[in-house]
Amino acid sequence: MTASPSAPGGAEQLPTLPGYEAAARARLDRPVFDYIAGGSGDEVTLRGDGAAYDRYRLRPRVLVDVSRVETGTTLLGRPVALPIGIAPMAYHRLVNPGGETATVRAAGALGALAVTSTYASRTLEETARAAAGPLWLQLYVLRRREVTESLVRRAEIAGYRALVVTVDTPRMARRERDLRNGFSLPSHIRPVNLDDGHRDGLHTARSGSSTLAEHAERHHDDAFTWDDLAWLRSLTALPLVLKGVLTAQDARRAAELGVDGLIVSTHGGRQLDGAIAALDALPEVVAAVPDHCEVLVDGGIRRGTDVLKALALGARAVLVGRPVLWGLAVDGAAGVERVLNTLQGELEEAMALTGRPRLDMIAPDLLHPAPHLANHPTTNDRDLA
Ligand code: GLV
Repeated sequence: MTASPSAPGGAEQLPTLPGYEAAARARLDRPVFDYIAGGSGDEVTLRGDGAAYDRYRLRPRVLVDVSRVETGTTLLGRPVALPIGIAPMAYHRLVNPGGETATVRAAGALGALAVTSTYASRTLEETARAAAGPLWLQLYVLRRREVTESLVRRAEIAGYRALVVTVDTPRMARRERDLRNGFSLPSHIRPVNLDDGHRDGLHTARSGSSTLAEHAERHHDDAFTWDDLAWLRSLTALPLVLKGVLTAQDARRAAELGVDGLIVSTHGGRQLDGAIAALDALPEVVAAVPDHCEVLVDGGIRRGTDVLKALALGARAVLVGRPVLWGLAVDGAAGVERVLNTLQGELEEAMALTGRPRLDMIAPDLLHPAPHLANHPTTNDRDLA
């Protein structure tokens, strides 16, 4: 893979997240690009996540001193330089030999949060050694509970700051691009965090099937419930974050069980197709939990103004997924850094131009529902007054 960001797609000429996507598309093998870009079913939720951001317009305030724009905040008590982190995604080495270590180096250079996946292609220990910023570990709860428990122990020893339990994937949804492509992992890419019993069957491509979906079906614990969450809570003193919560009811239940944070997420439109957009679920989740339970959101964020809109609806921070892999594909760690930098620069510009130079000035009064959706149910009339 060539590593110059100046080649196809124009990412060098105009560094935007869509520009990186175009450049990555030109470089990656089609099945790999499709695996990352794709969603489940008709990809209604995949499109809906992004479209939700376009349903809000911004209400700028003027004559505000914006000579200093501050994006620093804390996440679960740890300082970060920006309210934008890296979402957990599987197998970064699919797009660059550096894989997860390159990704977290870039996050660290910017002081951004990174979340690494159970299905990483670098061990969680290697990744922790490369990290200079806060690092959280995403967990799938596997049928063999001792494997999950050993990941928790390893995360504690390696210095991870939180565990992110994905709760929307008791099984993997049908991702039709992968089925069409007969997607399987190349032989040199493995889920190296897991033992041998979890590594087989991923590499034998068959048309009409996805080896990743079959793997999840064999190993994900699809009987894991709220009652079992107490087991996970009792295993560790690390903060626990649930990823994939989309309703107030589940948010409340999680907070009652002592969960420290929630990530409002549709799994990038890769799980339940037809699910509500993450941005649309955000206000009810925020309203359902006490302030000390931090709420993040991911899915469809491609512009600094999108970040601003999510913050206005109550997110403490956003996570970005696919664009990070596009940056990694185009230019390794430097590409990831530029993707995050681009988004941060756009956010700072949006904060300046809306007259909100500090994060604590960002509130629902910043938003106006796009005209054709004036009665959109997620907007709050009182807050918009
Ligand atoms: C894994 O979690 C995926 O969405 O591919």
